[in-house]
Amino acid sequence: MKEGQPQAIELKNYQVPPYLIDSTELHVEINEDVTRVTTTLQVRKNPDSTAMVTDLVLNGAVELVNKSITINDRELLSNEFGRDQDLLTLYAVPESFTLRTQVDIKPQDNTALEGLYKSGDMFCTQCEAEGFRNITWFLDRPDVMSKYRTTINADKRRYPILLSNGNDIARGEEGERHWVTWEDPFMKPAYLFALVAGDLQHVDDTFVTMSGRAVKLQIFTEAHNIDKVDYAMLALKNAMRWDEQAYGREYDLDIFMIVAVESFNMGAMENKGLNIFNTSCVLARPDTTTDQGYQRVESVVGHEYFHNWSGNRVTCRDWFQLSLKEGFTVLRDQQFSATMGSPTVCRINDVATLRGAQFPEDAGPMAHPIRPDTYIEINNFYTATVYEKGAEVVGMIQTLLGPDQFRRGTDLYFDRHDGQAVTTEEFVKAMEDATQVDLTQFRRWYSQAGTPVLKIQSHFDSAEQTYTLSVTQSCPPTPGQTQKLPFHLPLAIGLLDQAGADMPLTLMDNEAVQTPQVANVQDEAGSHTVVLNLTEARQHFVFTNISEKPVPSLLRGFSAPVKLNYDYSRDELMFLMSHDSNGFNRWDAAQRLAVDVIQEVVEQIQQGRTPQVDPRLIKACESNLDQAVARHTDLTLDKAMIAEMLVLPAETYLAELFTVADVDAIHAAREAVRLAIATQLAGVLLAVYKLNQDDRPFDVSASEVARRSLKNVALAYLMVPENTEMVPLCVAQFESANCMTDTSAAIRALVNSASPLALQAKEKALTTFYGRWQDEALVIDQWFSLQASCPLPGALDRVKALMQHSAFTMLNPNRLRSVIVAFAFQNNVNFHAKNGEGYGFLADTVIALNSINPLVAARILSPLTRWRKYDEQRQTLMRQHLQRILDTENLSKDVFEVVSKSL
Ligand code: PHE
Ligand code: ZN
Repeated sequence: MKEGQPQAIELKNYQVPPYLIDSTELHVEINEDVTRVTTTLQVRKNPDSTAMVTDLVLNGAVELVNKSITINDRELLSNEFGRDQDLLTLYAVPESFTLRTQVDIKPQDNTALEGLYKSGDMFCTQCEAEGFRNITWFLDRPDVMSKYRTTINADKRRYPILLSNGNDIARGEEGERHWVTWEDPFMKPAYLFALVAGDLQHVDDTFVTMSGRAVKLQIFTEAHNIDKVDYAMLALKNAMRWDEQAYGREYDLDIFMIVAVESFNMGAMENKGLNIFNTSCVLARPDTTTDQGYQRVESVVGHEYFHNWSGNRVTCRDWFQLSLKEGFTVLRDQQFSATMGSPTVCRINDVATLRGAQFPEDAGPMAHPIRPDTYIEINNFYTATVYEKGAEVVGMIQTLLGPDQFRRGTDLYFDRHDGQAVTTEEFVKAMEDATQVDLTQFRRWYSQAGTPVLKIQSHFDSAEQTYTLSVTQSCPPTPGQTQKLPFHLPLAIGLLDQAGADMPLTLMDNEAVQTPQVANVQDEAGSHTVVLNLTEARQHFVFTNISEKPVPSLLRGFSAPVKLNYDYSRDELMFLMSHDSNGFNRWDAAQRLAVDVIQEVVEQIQQGRTPQVDPRLIKACESNLDQAVARHTDLTLDKAMIAEMLVLPAETYLAELFTVADVDAIHAAREAVRLAIATQLAGVLLAVYKLNQDDRPFDVSASEVARRSLKNVALAYLMVPENTEMVPLCVAQFESANCMTDTSAAIRALVNSASPLALQAKEKALTTFYGRWQDEALVIDQWFSLQASCPLPGALDRVKALMQHSAFTMLNPNRLRSVIVAFAFQNNVNFHAKNGEGYGFLADTVIALNSINPLVAARILSPLTRWRKYDEQRQTLMRQHLQRILDTENLSKDVFEVVSKSL
């Protein structure tokens, strides 16, 4: 960095804002060359501030071109203010005054997609976290809440739709132009401001709230996408109803709008009354969208809607509190999805995400607590830790309190802090005050980073008829935190007798509290789960009246975000897989067994031996598949669960489990295990495939999603052997599929196949697919992604060729990610090629993107930051390329922070 290194911001330096802005009136005049923003603010000194200041310092951006600054209608002289890059200082301002500023901006040149920018032909905004300052001078911090009135003025023909937050209160026309004024009755921080101008279609609906108010619902898209919003509308209505029932939260405006935009940095944004969505999180149609895509739409629509209370009505005091809204809202959207679909399958997917994305973060150079205490660029903290681990932390509170008490806590929280900008401390305090439960030690989850490790040992005493679990917990050091104190966590467990039934449990002493209702564990019939309160580094739990040696089912439902070590035998894991009354733990036993077997094969490969896949793993898969055949018409059989049990743990997760991850051996071992399953179970796999191949009309019901997922898992296995005879079957599915789930599973299997027979078929399929879908951006994203993630040799060349394709652009984050994330995050063997070419390529891409879109540049760079996990040669190469990025001129704060912290 030329002008010195960017400054870190620290939580401990927080001070209340010296000034407040009671009202904000915006006048945005949109033109093709410049957009003029006139802002009128009612400013007054904050009575709670003790700062002895008379200057007002406003946030802005270098791109703001000043046209005028007035205080109480008097234009300021050049010695009455100072402008330094992105700050505007007004000297010696009155106690209370009207400030009017006028700036020119060029949204059409805004490739960072923060503030006001153009997505295709439409104008839209993204203000979280600090985008509002790219639009106008402001106190751009979440504890400055203001009442907004916004007038948008634009060309009538090009931008017939003009939207902002709140209610549409006035409109008018002037020749070729028109204007609309919106007023939001709720005070809000600037990050929740939104504005849209475009030629948009909309679908309308109504929702009647629990108190009988009719709310108008509108989803806006460009014309070619308006046929893909029905599912989002349904999800929205379900979410609104669910939040009333589960949390007693009612919607508060008369209108709720969603706008779909093609260029968007993240998933979606909860702006008050005007959510803006990445098309990938709102559009769905059977022939263009996979079942996973449908699930994503449902969960993101829910997530953004739920923010109306957890985020908007009660917002964050500062950005260190981000998990206050995000962790809680992720928990809420997970609970919503679980109610709408299969709770166990939802939990499995959530935990797989946590292990695959958050655990590595906690083990890497950017590790931070869910409430970080320092940052350089807040954009870098929209992480799996703040979101997904944050959700686990709130989920643990729910498990410790029980669902009814938890609800009392959330009611108190919303009630007490409505209209305020608060901290995670206030959230925890509300939980305590509503329930009299002491969460003092629990608060460490907010301040300590790292994934705790539980080591559990068991002892059965047949004479005493007792069973003892000895639990130790520890947490590895993370940057800036070498010593950790023990966490308070709920350890949900059950004990299985030899017939596989849950034993009723009694603890010897009562120092560990038994929680009768276990919120997050999702107990099934016949479960006797208890929740042990873990608080110390070392603890013993003695169960009495245990007449035979049990098999323990530990951490049921993944009751805490920890790594669990228990020395299970493979036979015990198989036993749990078929008998555990907790569905999540049945799956987890299958994962543990697969991990164990793959790790053994990794060693064999490293020692140059021929891989021997433990037949017990094959047997376990076989019995699952046999069930799927025998009971295939049985409606109580959860086919989605069977499919989940057959999927081997991802390479990224496996890599996490080794101190030094031997990428090649891990890949080879996982492939060897897949091949063993595929060849030894070919018959039953084909039977399962055929029984579940069906051409009834598309339907996203849970049972149909489950059927398709089982079928497509079988298809993927059938296509594994190099000499597979299933290519024609796969081609047939590709050609006759009636939904994108089946089309995409088939083309993926073809593309990933090493069979010489598939060679021609895959080229043909790729061409057909492209031709058929070239006008559907989200489908073409899949076309890019499935090629870039293909683990066969030569991926980097394919990726480079894809980037030369006429449909590739770095300006659209979805398109960029469809290639770069697919390669660097999902294609381990190729990205980590020993010669370092994958690293060089990613570094080049980050450097190019740094000046276009810093937020996305910093996000895609994370695979390089994990260099400590690899062998010395790779470490050296990865660090060289990180250094090369760091030496780049004009490095953004976003990229600088990630690279400098990782070196
Ligand atoms: N607040 C958004 C969400 O979680 C995420 C987001 C952050 C979107 C920053 C855009 C920019 O739902
Ligand atoms: Zn969110």
